[in-house]
Amino acid sequence: MIYASYLWLLLCYAQNARSNLDEESVEELSNRFLGRGTPQWHSLPIRLDVDRASGCLCRSTYNRKVIVCFGNYNCKKIPRVKMKSDLLKVRTTSITSVHIGDLDVFYYLKILEIEANHQLTYIEPGSFRNLSNLEHLSISYNTALYTIGNRTFEGLRNLRNLTLVNNGFTNIRLLTPALIPSILPSLKWLDLSKNNLEEIPEDAFVPMQGTLLQKLDVCLCRLDFIHPNSFLPLKELKKLHIGENDLDPSLIGNFLAKMSQSNINLSYLDLSGMGFRKYPPKELMYIIAQTTIKTLILAQNQFEIIPDDAFPEMVNIELLDLRKVFAISIGSNTFEPRKFPNLKILLLGGNNLPGVHKKPLSSQLLLLDLSNNKGNSENPMYYEIDQDAFLGTKSLKILNIGFNMIKSIHNYTFRGLDNLKMLNMENGTLYYIGPGTFKYTKHLEILNLANNPLNVNGNNFTSAQFEGLNKLEVLILSNCGITNFNDDDNIFEMMPMLLHLILRNNQLYFITAETLKPLKCLQVLDLSENLLISWWKPLFLAAGVKPLQLYLTNNKISHFTISMIQDISYLLEDRHNRTVEIDLMNNVFTCDCSTMYETALWLEMNGSAPLRQYFSHSKFQCNSPDVWESFRVSNYMESMKKSHCYVYKKISNVIILVWTAPSLVTLILIAIIGLFLYKYRVYIKYWIFLAKLALGRTFIRNSLKADKCEPKKYKYDAFVSYSNEDREFISEVITQLEKSPPYLKLCIYERDFEIGSFISESVLSSINESKFVVLVISTNFARSQWCRWETQLAEYHRIFLEDGTNYDPLILIKIGEIESKYLTATLKFLMKTKVYHTWDENNREEFWIKLRNVLTKDVHI
Ligand SMILES: *[C@@H]1O[C@H](CO)[C@@H](O)[C@H](O)[C@H]1NC(C)=O
Ligand SMILES: *[C@@H]1O[C@H](CO)[C@@H](O)[C@H](O)[C@H]1NC(C)=O
Ligand SMILES: *[C@@H]1O[C@H](CO)[C@@H](O)[C@H](O)[C@H]1NC(C)=O
Ligand SMILES: *[C@@H]1O[C@H](CO)[C@@H](O)[C@H](O)[C@H]1NC(C)=O
Ligand SMILES: *[C@@H]1O[C@H](CO)[C@@H](O)[C@H](O)[C@H]1NC(C)=O
Ligand SMILES: *[C@@H]1O[C@H](CO)[C@@H](O)[C@H](O)[C@H]1NC(C)=O
Ligand SMILES: *[C@@H]1O[C@H](CO)[C@@H](O)[C@H](O)[C@H]1NC(C)=O
Ligand SMILES: *[C@@H]1O[C@H](CO)[C@@H](O)[C@H](O)[C@H]1NC(C)=O
Ligand SMILES: *[C@@H]1O[C@H](CO)[C@@H](O)[C@H](O)[C@H]1NC(C)=O
Repeated sequence: MIYASYLWLLLCYAQNARSNLDEESVEELSNRFLGRGTPQWHSLPIRLDVDRASGCLCRSTYNRKVIVCFGNYNCKKIPRVKMKSDLLKVRTTSITSVHIGDLDVFYYLKILEIEANHQLTYIEPGSFRNLSNLEHLSISYNTALYTIGNRTFEGLRNLRNLTLVNNGFTNIRLLTPALIPSILPSLKWLDLSKNNLEEIPEDAFVPMQGTLLQKLDVCLCRLDFIHPNSFLPLKELKKLHIGENDLDPSLIGNFLAKMSQSNINLSYLDLSGMGFRKYPPKELMYIIAQTTIKTLILAQNQFEIIPDDAFPEMVNIELLDLRKVFAISIGSNTFEPRKFPNLKILLLGGNNLPGVHKKPLSSQLLLLDLSNNKGNSENPMYYEIDQDAFLGTKSLKILNIGFNMIKSIHNYTFRGLDNLKMLNMENGTLYYIGPGTFKYTKHLEILNLANNPLNVNGNNFTSAQFEGLNKLEVLILSNCGITNFNDDDNIFEMMPMLLHLILRNNQLYFITAETLKPLKCLQVLDLSENLLISWWKPLFLAAGVKPLQLYLTNNKISHFTISMIQDISYLLEDRHNRTVEIDLMNNVFTCDCSTMYETALWLEMNGSAPLRQYFSHSKFQCNSPDVWESFRVSNYMESMKKSHCYVYKKISNVIILVWTAPSLVTLILIAIIGLFLYKYRVYIKYWIFLAKLALGRTFIRNSLKADKCEPKKYKYDAFVSYSNEDREFISEVITQLEKSPPYLKLCIYERDFEIGSFISESVLSSINESKFVVLVISTNFARSQWCRWETQLAEYHRIFLEDGTNYDPLILIKIGEIESKYLTATLKFLMKTKVYHTWDENNREEFWIKLRNVLTKDVHI
């Protein structure tokens, strides 16, 4: 994303600084920052069909401009790619050599990169004969490639860039005959860095006499010797990179002086990482001051203290790079305009400078980089900016004080920066912005405050803090802990020209039309990685704000409301061929009728062509329910069962009623349910009983299986339950069964129960100790005792056990007719399913015999 490239931009600018940094180039710089010319990171989604013979895999970008072929052990030859592209990369293959004809089919290529092929040892001269369109060739990181033949590059008439980085080259004399202007007439840039060259002898570039080469890079080549005359054949050389070598300053001075004498007008010299210590080498600086060099890179050397006299007068220098030189202090006159009248860009990032103090740096600067001066992790340093520290730097256009531990900024901090256009304060510790801080920076166009804890303590922005930003075009507030914007004190009223508003990675869960209203010019709005939920009132439509790019990625949007679709429709309409990007990926869309039905209907009836097109091309997915997870929302909408949802809608109206009159409806519902329960209580009891029964059966069956072997010993032969009214009959039962042989032992409810013992427990334990359970059922029993029993019976699983044996522990004795009103469902069920013995006054003998037979039966379970 473009705003992440801010630092990249500064670096890039520092390295490729144009010879004249004037008004126009700053303009261009901001344009590039606004979206043009940023590096593209290629993803390679498309798999290409290539010839099987080569064994390589090739993939390309969507636009098919870039093709990358690779394949490790299987890829042994340059593959034949049928599709035309601008750029071809052949990397990490096991190609050992490239031959004439291998590359002929690629005549259309502009850029060819043959990189990291660790078995490549030979490139046959003439291999590039048909690549007359090639502008950039890289043969790099092929560590086994030791030589290049004199005629290898024949045919590359338009080659401008040649990159030969990190191959196995050890002798520059063997390379230069291949780079002669008659073979490479257009060569402008040559990069030989990271080859183990060790020295550049006098005749190294003699074969290249007449070349138009402008840039030479021999960084990191372990060079310890460069002959003073060696660069003289390179008459057009402008940029020389010799950083990260072990070169003596006097040796550098010697060849620079020679070049200068020969009218080779260098503009750029990279001396980074040369191991210079303490001071910039004085003699060398004097020599450089006499040359035409405008850009001097001294980064990554070691100059802890840079005093006022560290540099001589250097009138030509426009850019000075002193990043990462361990600086802890800089004299306040070091870069004064008298010595550096043309210094426009000063880079001091990555040092240990404690802050900006009075009369800090000179008034002629256009770009000042003071970023990343925060000490190290053991010794962190807060960064201070003195009151009115910038009062003397009126021309400054770009100020980078990001990655510093600045705590607060006030109305006196930026006073004097009347011409400032870009201010970077990202990744700091900024938590306070005083009112009127930007009052004097009236020309500020880009303000980056990302990754500062600005709103973390519940502080809210006030418009007074942003007063003066009338020309602001880009505001970056990513990861500032923002939870809400105050509509009564709208900060955006202060910045009506805003084009890009980046609010990524905050804690916003809504944003109002009122908040957005002042942003009439807005083109890019990034709200991704917040907590935004669906909105139910039109937002962009109501605010009249129409960004071309809207990022809502990674939020909490679950519903697709009509307001949202109206907003999207509004964003898409009347765009005159301009592409609109609305990104809703990675939200939590729920794909069901309640969330999507109305929207789908609206889309069908009222959706414009661009809106429908947007939907059919959209990629955002459902998050729930499970069946629709990872389907696209648009697929869901298409396949939605409209009729089914129509019914749903009717029901949901009822539900809405419930929601709107909750107390009344709930009361009515409770009453209805209560009535229902009362009316059918008997059935309910019965159902519960049956359910318990069903559960009990399986349970007891399993538990009984365990102790099948031991026949159980019972304390009583029978447990007898009866109603008090039937006492007479019971005394007869006792006499009959207990008093005459064979003597049976009975547990009689009234007699044998300890007074006061808890009935259900006693009953249960007694039942467990009895072989049979005898219920004496009469109208009285049904009326008085049965209720107690009903609940107990189910617990006493054994009674209902049906395990295939003929042992049935429950014995029913019926006395007289039972009044039907007392016959409960369970009792009816028992009478129906069990054999019962009816007491017959006239047939006493037979009754007692039968009962005795049953009770004395052996129990086998
Ligand atoms: C060589 O390049 C020409 C175009 O310059 C092209 O027409 C021809 O097919 C190429 N040769 C091969 C063998 O592909
Ligand atoms: C040449 O290489 C440089 C970087 O090394 C790049 O910026 C430039 O665009 C390249 N030119 C071409 C024509 O590829
Ligand atoms: C390559 O060119 C150089 C200088 O022109 C010459 O000395 C050398 O012999 C040539 N090498 C081959 C293999 O032709
Ligand atoms: C270098 O600059 C001098 C003085 O301006 C000029 O005479 C000379 O032609 C320039 N050299 C080249 C190669 O442009
Ligand atoms: C700066 O703000 C302070 C209060 O925070 C105020 O007293 C002072 O007048 C302001 N100065 C200017 C120049 O606005
Ligand atoms: C800037 O801060 C963010 C968030 O704290 C962090 O993720 C990021 O890595 C930081 N950037 C750099 C270059 O340190
Ligand atoms: C910020 O705004 C919220 C909501 O408007 C409010 O509850 C909170 O008190 C405010 N915080 C401060 C420090 O004013
Ligand atoms: C839109 O593009 C078409 C063809 O691509 C062109 O004819 C038309 O003029 C363009 N309209 C506008 C407003 O740019
Ligand atoms: C279509 O739009 C009209 C007018 O804006 C509205 O009355 C109608 O309800 C919409 N149709 C649907 C299905 O929402």
